[in-house]
Amino acid sequence: MTKLKAVYSSNTLIEAILKYLEIQYGLKINELNTDKILNLIYNCHIAGTGFDENALNVIDRHFSNLLLNNESYFFRYPLQLQLILEYCKSKHNPVILSIGCSKGQEAYSISMYLHKHNIDFQIYGVDIDDDAINDAKKATYSEYSLKALPEEYKKYFSYTADNKYKLSEDIIKNVTFLKINILKEDISKMIPGADIILINNVLIYLNKKAIETFIETAANLLVSGGLLFTSEEEYSIKTFGKFLKEESKKGCKYYSKPDLNQIAIMDYRELFDFKGSESKKTFDYSCLEQNIDNPSLENAKDSLLKKDYLKAISICYKLITDNPLFDEPLAIMSECFYELGFNEEAKKWLRTFLIINSNNEEKIEQYLNLCLKTEDFFEYIRILKKKIALFNKKDDIIRLKNILERAGLNAEELSDYMQ
Ligand SMILES: C[S@@+](CC[C@H](N)C(=O)[O-])C[C@H]1O[C@@H](n2cnc3c(N)ncnc32)[C@H](O)[C@@H]1O
Repeated sequence: MTKLKAVYSSNTLIEAILKYLEIQYGLKINELNTDKILNLIYNCHIAGTGFDENALNVIDRHFSNLLLNNESYFFRYPLQLQLILEYCKSKHNPVILSIGCSKGQEAYSISMYLHKHNIDFQIYGVDIDDDAINDAKKATYSEYSLKALPEEYKKYFSYTADNKYKLSEDIIKNVTFLKINILKEDISKMIPGADIILINNVLIYLNKKAIETFIETAANLLVSGGLLFTSEEEYSIKTFGKFLKEESKKGCKYYSKPDLNQIAIMDYRELFDFKGSESKKTFDYSCLEQNIDNPSLENAKDSLLKKDYLKAISICYKLITDNPLFDEPLAIMSECFYELGFNEEAKKWLRTFLIINSNNEEKIEQYLNLCLKTEDFFEYIRILKKKIALFNKKDDIIRLKNILERAGLNAEELSDYMQ
């Protein structure tokens, strides 16, 4: 009933169905799928239903047939397999998760590849589509799925009487398939963490909000230092950068989860060890309030607004000690230190914020400003280059050119940024 309430404001059956598809499945409605959506609406119409629970059942029943694209085949991304193998060699029994696994071709490709290289592992495949999950468990495929399979892996299949290819038990046994709607169910209850996650060819079908949910869910599930692979087309989705670090190796782009706890601990240690030069203003952390009742972001923001900077810092410090991945308190701390004139401290906390949120243009700009204030020109140039790589803005390129020229440096290296 709650689902119905969420769509009650829709006036027509069509609007209501579109809204439901958006909420329940995160479906992006575009020219390519309008025909299919109309077909779905037609099915509801045939079922003689208004927008009630019966309509929801009709939609759910027809959704996967009509709107999900289960296209997949073995060894679709061989470069990903190479990097997965490299990573797994240094891990004990790594957990690998294929999100939107369709009929299991991706999960089994990894299983074959790692099996051939004598690696122990555990693979999970999850998909919203019941039929796809059932087929994945059967592990029997048509010739199409084997179209990119290298010759040496064919030995893992046996030919069946009905012209299909059945995978051998060795490859199946370490792979578990689960029916999960990533947008609606808490996957961490079933899979506590993963060393490697693949989300290939799933996000392209989803709207912005659903994409964010997918990426955040995956990033939370990934262990520190873990890797996330996605297809080339999806790699450029900006939300990834909010949680993960962009990487590239052997021509394959992927994301890694920074070991943030380690970075945060290092940062705290630096703070305590920090001697600073005589001329730099250092901050004495022992003056922070120790006993804060109910530290919350709201209270910190409130203190910042009231210009009670020490209080805001005390609250934020407590929040990030409890959860080093909590980014907003880092930005608030930086702002407070800046207001109090502790520019080095402000820079330090903002740098930690940017490790978590590397794509935040406004904060990068604030950080550059702090680099200037603290006369940290090497850091300024380093970050400005990063900003250019991220946003490719003409003004920044000119800024970099000027600063390099003023510093008497060769502007040759700019050529990379000038295209
Ligand atoms: C095109 S297939 C991708 C198969 C495979 N990853 C590959 O690249 O070869 C996309 C899959 O995502 C699944 N999917 C779509 N929305 C989902 C959701 N909310 N939760 C889980 N799986 C979903 C679909 O059912 C479909 O099987």
